[in-house]
Amino acid sequence: MKIAVIGCGYVGLVTAACLAGFGHTVTGVEKDPAKVNALKEGSIPFYEEDLAPLVAGGLRKRKLLFLEKIDESIAGAEVIFIAVGTPSLRNGAADLQQVFKAAGEIAPYLKKYTVIVNKSTVPVGTAKRVWEAIKENLTREIPYDVVSNPEFLREGKAVNDFFQPDRVVVGTGSTRAQQVMKKVYARLIADGTPFIWTTPEAAELIKYAANAFLATKISFINEIANLCEAASVDIDTVARGMGLDKRIGGEFLRAGPGYGGSCFPKDTRALVHIARSYGQRVLIVETAVKINEQQKGRMVKKIRGATGGLKGKTIALLGMAFKPGVDDLRESPAVAIAERLLAAGARLQVHDPMALGRVKEVFGARINCCQDPYAAVTRADALVIATDWPEYRKLDLARVKKLMNTGDTPVLLDLRNIFTPQEVRGYGFRYQGVGRGWKGEPENGLEK
Ligand code: UDX
Repeated sequence: MKIAVIGCGYVGLVTAACLAGFGHTVTGVEKDPAKVNALKEGSIPFYEEDLAPLVAGGLRKRKLLFLEKIDESIAGAEVIFIAVGTPSLRNGAADLQQVFKAAGEIAPYLKKYTVIVNKSTVPVGTAKRVWEAIKENLTREIPYDVVSNPEFLREGKAVNDFFQPDRVVVGTGSTRAQQVMKKVYARLIADGTPFIWTTPEAAELIKYAANAFLATKISFINEIANLCEAASVDIDTVARGMGLDKRIGGEFLRAGPGYGGSCFPKDTRALVHIARSYGQRVLIVETAVKINEQQKGRMVKKIRGATGGLKGKTIALLGMAFKPGVDDLRESPAVAIAERLLAAGARLQVHDPMALGRVKEVFGARINCCQDPYAAVTRADALVIATDWPEYRKLDLARVKKLMNTGDTPVLLDLRNIFTPQEVRGYGFRYQGVGRGWKGEPENGLEK
C-alpha cells in the first residue's frame, strides 16, 4: 500500500518505519528541514532501540522516503496518518493546532478515496473535527474517512510494541475505512493480534483511559509506599503480594519519584480537562496527578533530611532520563528534583548513560555533568539514584564509598529501589529507598 505519515517525531517516525517494515511504501513528512535531511541519511534525532536499522532498511529498499512538505507526492496515498504533536496547553488541555493544520494541508491533495488516520493522542470528538477541517479545505468532492487509531508505544520498546502489540484499537464507523485498515495491519491480523473495532470516540477515550490507569497505578503504589515508610513495612514485599493477584498484575507497581515522560503527565492532565468539558470529574485521575507532583517534593525532602540541609552540599545525582533506555528528559522527575535541589543551594554532579547531552542543553553550567558515575560521586555529600538504569545496579559500592566526602557513613538515597537496603548498609552506607520503612532482615530473602 502507499501510505503517508505526517509528522516524523517520535510516534510518526516509528509508525512510518514499522509500516515500511510491513512492506508498505511510506512517505514521512516532516516540516523541520534539518530533520528531513538527517532522516534521508538514516540519522535519527533520538535514541530508540531497533529503530535505526529499520529506517536504514526502509531507505535502502526505497520503501521509506522523507519529505519536507505535504504536496502532490502524497496524493496517491491510500492512507494518511497524522502523527503530529499534541502538547499540553496551560490549562492542561491538548493543543490540537498541529492536528488541524495537517488536516487542512492534506485536503487539497486528495484525489481519490483516502483514509486519514489520527495517530496523535487526541480528545474525544477530534476525529469528527478533523473530518470537518478536511471538508472545509477540499478543492473538489472527494470521498474520505477519518479513523482514530491510537498508539500504545513505550519509549525504548516502541518498535517491539508496534510489531507485537497487546492490541490494536481502530475507531471508525465506515466499513470501507475498516477494509483499508485491515490491509494496513494485515500482518498483525494474521499473527492473531486482538483488534478492537469501535467508534472513533471510544478509540480516543481508550487511549486516555489506558494511560491514566497506568499512571494511577504508579501514584497508588507511591502512596502505599509513603504509608509503608510510616508503618515500617517494605513496599517491594507489598507490591509483590499485590501483583501476584492476576486481577491486579505486577507491572507498574514500582514505587519511585513519580512518573514522567511525554505521555503520562500530559495525558492525565488532558483527561482531567476532557472530563470537565463534559461537566464530569475524574477524581481518581486528578488525585493521581496531585500525588505525582507531591512525590517529587517528598524526594527532595528526603534528600534534605538525609544531608542535614541542602545549602552548599554537593549531591551526586545518577540518572536524569525519565526512565532507563531512553535519552528523553521530558517531565523527568529527576529534572524536577535537580531544579529544586539547585534552588535550595545544592551543587549537583550528574551522570546519565544516554541523556547527558540533553542535560547540558537544559542546565548549561548550572550543574556539573560527569562522564561516569564514579566521577559524579567524587567528594559528594550524598548519592541519589533518580533513574533505574541497570548499570547503576552494578556500581562498585566499596569504591563509591571511598570516593565520597562523608567519612564513615555516606548516605545513598535510592529513589528507584534498585538495591536492597541490606546490601547497601553492608558496605557501610546509610540507606534510604522509597517505601522501605522496614529495617529488619527479610525472613525468607527478598527476591530481587
Ligand atoms: C507510556 C505507556 O506505557 C505507553 O503505552 C504510551 O503509549 C506512552 O506512555 P512511556 O512514556 O514510554 O510509555 O513510559 P513507561 O515505560 O510507561 O513509563 C512512564 C513513567 O512511569 C516513567 O517515568 C517510569 O519510570 C514510571 N514508572 C513506570 C514508575 O515510576 N513505576 C512503574 O512501576 C512503572
